[in-house]
Amino acid sequence: MSGELWLWALCALLPALWLLSFFRTDSDLTLLWAAWLGRRPEQVLTGMVVWVTGASSGIGEELALQLSKLGVSLVLSARRVQELERVKRRCLENGNVKEKDILVLPLDLADRSSHDMATKAVLQEFGRVDILVNNGGIAHCSFAVDTNLDVFKVLLEVNYLGTVSLTKCVLPHMMKRKQGKIVIINSLGGIIPIPLTSAYNASKHALRGFLDTLQTELFNYPGITVSTICPGLVHSNIFQNSFTSEITETLGSNAEALSKMETSRCAQLILIALANDLKEVWIAQQPHLFKTYVWQYVPIRDWIFSRKTWKKVIEGYNIDKDDKYHKRLNE
Ligand SMILES: NC(=O)c1ccc[n+]([C@@H]2O[C@H](COP(=O)([O-])OP(=O)(O)OC[C@H]3O[C@@H](n4cnc5c(N)ncnc54)[C@H](OP(=O)(O)O)[C@@H]3O)[C@@H](O)[C@H]2O)c1
Repeated sequence: MSGELWLWALCALLPALWLLSFFRTDSDLTLLWAAWLGRRPEQVLTGMVVWVTGASSGIGEELALQLSKLGVSLVLSARRVQELERVKRRCLENGNVKEKDILVLPLDLADRSSHDMATKAVLQEFGRVDILVNNGGIAHCSFAVDTNLDVFKVLLEVNYLGTVSLTKCVLPHMMKRKQGKIVIINSLGGIIPIPLTSAYNASKHALRGFLDTLQTELFNYPGITVSTICPGLVHSNIFQNSFTSEITETLGSNAEALSKMETSRCAQLILIALANDLKEVWIAQQPHLFKTYVWQYVPIRDWIFSRKTWKKVIEGYNIDKDDKYHKRLNE
């Protein structure tokens, strides 16, 4: 074969392999492409000041750990100081950072009056915020009809308003410097409906609307990028901490049977998204990823996702705590 033919064959093969690998992968096509051929996190993120909320467990903890290996300055925020100190120790032991590179900054997303002071504390310590990772969040698991309005309220307060408030505190400083990255750890629930999580999904849909719109207003600031990260099921404490239909009760160890992605893999993909300034990424194991594509792009989705499909999803939760859950399932 001539050199030109080889080149054509290669040009056809690469996209074909890319599409084929989608059926075995855990990231959407753009992220998959960036993971193959994009910039590496260590090329881009090293030396940056990164503020991670919800850093005391789960995805936030793993992000902190992987970022510390890249050699960044880290701000770790959440409500539980002891857990943040534990994460800091892990970063110091396993990462490429020193004591002076990590600031433990307790923060309650629901306490919006404290966000300005917290931002000032970060700026005083490091002089800037290069990346704000809005990761802190809570969930619930209950039928909408049974869910107390307090659950809707708390989820909006923490997931939506808390994130918007902190972003609004940090944004003016990024605008002054004409650079920065605003990241929101959203969810596939912010795209595709997932039964029993109406309040959670509503808060995530709101966040998607907020960030998409914010981006349109930053037309004069090409150095400021926004990223919506939408993971599917990932190992973390979010399921145990999820409210049931009341804010006085959490799921505990129920709902553990659902299969989930490793937290470290999710964090690794998030860092690739950040390094490549991807605007929206979907991170999930199959078939969840494929279902999200169908929901987003196939016009006959309501026929594909029938009532039976949703009932099966709900049965898969297998929660044995909430009586109302069984009542609804069997009625
Ligand atoms: N795990 C999944 O399957 C999954 C899927 C899609 C999206 N997500 C999103 O990923 C993010 C991280 O969740 P995760 O799965 O890693 O769960 P997680 O292990 O429960 O972590 C949640 C984090 O949020 C913090 N947080 C909760 N309420 C807060 C508040 N009022 N103020 C400040 N921080 C608060 C928690 O810390 P404190 O309790 O110490 O405050 C904790 O560090 C969330 O936004 C979640 O919606 C998770």
